[in-house]
Amino acid sequence: KIPVIIDCDPGVDDALAILLALASDKLEVRAITTVAGNQTIAKTTANALRIVDFLGAGTKVAAGAAKPLQRELKTAEWVHGASGLGKADLPPARRLAADPLNAVDLIWESVRQSQEKIQLIALGPLTNLAILLSAHPGVREKLAGITLMGGSCFLGNTTPAAEFNIHCDPEAAKIVFESGLPITMIGLDATRQAVVYESEIAEIVAIPSRVGKFVGDLFRSTLEVCRFFGAEGAVMHDLLAVAQVINPQLVKTQAYRVEIETSGEFTTGKTVVDRYHVWNREPNARVGLEVNRPAFLEMIKEMMVQYGI
Ligand code: BDR
Ligand code: CA
Repeated sequence: KIPVIIDCDPGVDDALAILLALASDKLEVRAITTVAGNQTIAKTTANALRIVDFLGAGTKVAAGAAKPLQRELKTAEWVHGASGLGKADLPPARRLAADPLNAVDLIWESVRQSQEKIQLIALGPLTNLAILLSAHPGVREKLAGITLMGGSCFLGNTTPAAEFNIHCDPEAAKIVFESGLPITMIGLDATRQAVVYESEIAEIVAIPSRVGKFVGDLFRSTLEVCRFFGAEGAVMHDLLAVAQVINPQLVKTQAYRVEIETSGEFTTGKTVVDRYHVWNREPNARVGLEVNRPAFLEMIKEMMVQYGI
């Protein structure tokens, strides 16, 4: 099994990503850490806890940064709703409470105690990971790499140029992309192909499973928002990043130099991807470009089977 730590801001698609990770026999989820992004840190942490509690998983959950390194937090409430889980609902966690350590300390402790290198999966703004890398430079030796959902080669979704997670905390993203660690960037170029249509959502939800209603509500919340943007189906950003760690063949990637725009007039938070190698500089990330959508759908269906009644 691949040991992973998931840093996230649940978040409708983060919630589905957590479900997928905890169901997978390929991953060993050592901890889930939270960051402010889609919602406040209080809400993203409460959501992570109630998801883990609902699944009866007992995975450690620790709260991290309440705001980006240098900027004010602008949540995505209009996408993820007042709770952060859209139209889905779960009771508050009864058995679990947040770990006494904060996110950065919990990652550092888990990584230090681990025999194997750990893969980080980042599904929100990169604030916690930037603090970790700055406070504990030695962490690099204990990490296998970072697979992150964020950025795009071409269009943004928060501004015409920038994707939400990178736009939220560009200074943190810069630290992460300059860390020297193997980075897999699952950005909008790939996640826009990770679309699930209404008839497919119905097929997924029809699989007998104890998470059926929750998964259905999460998918349908996303579908509604995506339709508002003119998309035909539900685009599953964070789910694809976890899926890529489970099956690295799922998204075809290419190595490129990626720089983070931190001071553009119109482009702050853009991942500037040197696709034509005009800079002639060492690549610092593998960028996801082409998704095997049938295999992605199959993985979601297998997840439902894992949570079978
Ligand atoms: C990313 O932004 C968030 O709203 C989603 O959870 C995802 O991580 C997509 O741009
Ligand atoms: Ca997210």
